[in-house]
Amino acid sequence: MANEGKKIRRIALLTSGGDAPGMNAAIRAVVRTAVFNGVKVLGFRRGYNGLINNDFLEMDSRSVNRMSARGGTMLYTARCEEFRTEAGVKRAADNCRYLGIDGLVCIGGDGTFRGALELSHYGVPVVGIPATIDNDIGCSHYTIGFDTAANTAIDAIDKLSDTMQSHERISVVEVMGRHAGHLAMYVGLSCGAAVTLVPEEPFDMERDILDVVREGRINGRNHFIVIVAEGVGGAPEIAHAIQEQTGMETRITIIGHVQRGGSPTARDRVMATRMGHFAVESLLKGEKQIVVCYRDSHICSLGIEEALTMHKELDRYMYRVAKEISI
Ligand code: F6P
Repeated sequence: MANEGKKIRRIALLTSGGDAPGMNAAIRAVVRTAVFNGVKVLGFRRGYNGLINNDFLEMDSRSVNRMSARGGTMLYTARCEEFRTEAGVKRAADNCRYLGIDGLVCIGGDGTFRGALELSHYGVPVVGIPATIDNDIGCSHYTIGFDTAANTAIDAIDKLSDTMQSHERISVVEVMGRHAGHLAMYVGLSCGAAVTLVPEEPFDMERDILDVVREGRINGRNHFIVIVAEGVGGAPEIAHAIQEQTGMETRITIIGHVQRGGSPTARDRVMATRMGHFAVESLLKGEKQIVVCYRDSHICSLGIEEALTMHKELDRYMYRVAKEISI
């Protein structure tokens, strides 16, 4: 949506929701693109809390030194209860107006974008940047942090494989992803898991797990990796049932928040930098109320309202590949 040619003098940014590796690289790109174009930047701390409480810092090129290499978010992040109320959103919008903010870049997941949409209803020009390790944003084929989290999980599972092989055990591993199986499936395919359970695909204990283990043993397999997406849940019960029914020892590992940390991979640094740059250039061109997206190998944008109606399906082909090559 165009901005009727208003000159952009000052923008602000925030990170909200769960952090993701690469958020700092996106912050750095936003700040430096703005500075390059003579635009002042304010960074709000702790997501929408900062906007409500006027908790911000003035940022320049030096405040984001070496930030492309650092995990987490230098602006902190939080979920904000007050922002769920109309009074909270209005207060945040009033602060934006008072501070003369011509554009607000909101980095995070769909909860972050819903917050940005609320602010846009009060006339705040917003741009969203998708960042979540879950890769569950409908409008964008990629979200910042996914690649780093996948690599962290793969590294952990490769290590688990070594010890499982030595003891001839079965490793049942829970991978994050909230309600979505994108991360679990990607990780399962990458590390040759015998079984990957995702919330999008109902499973049958006998057919999809026990038979796979039994047939694998007949084929000479002495250890197995079973990945359970967080959204499926029940990893301890699944491990218990496998041990009972197959006689093979099982061990459970919940990789947990380790997946959210660490220095971002090249893919996340580059994607975050391109998205951050695109976000500021969009504001400078007069575009607002949009989400930056990665679609068919291009960075582009969609209207935030439309973006929030979109849903990302699990890649069924990739899921089938993972299954077929796990024999
Ligand atoms: O959305 C990212 C994510 O790491 C999910 O995979 C997970 O379900 C959730 O956040 C955990 O949130 P919290 O850090 O609040 O426990």
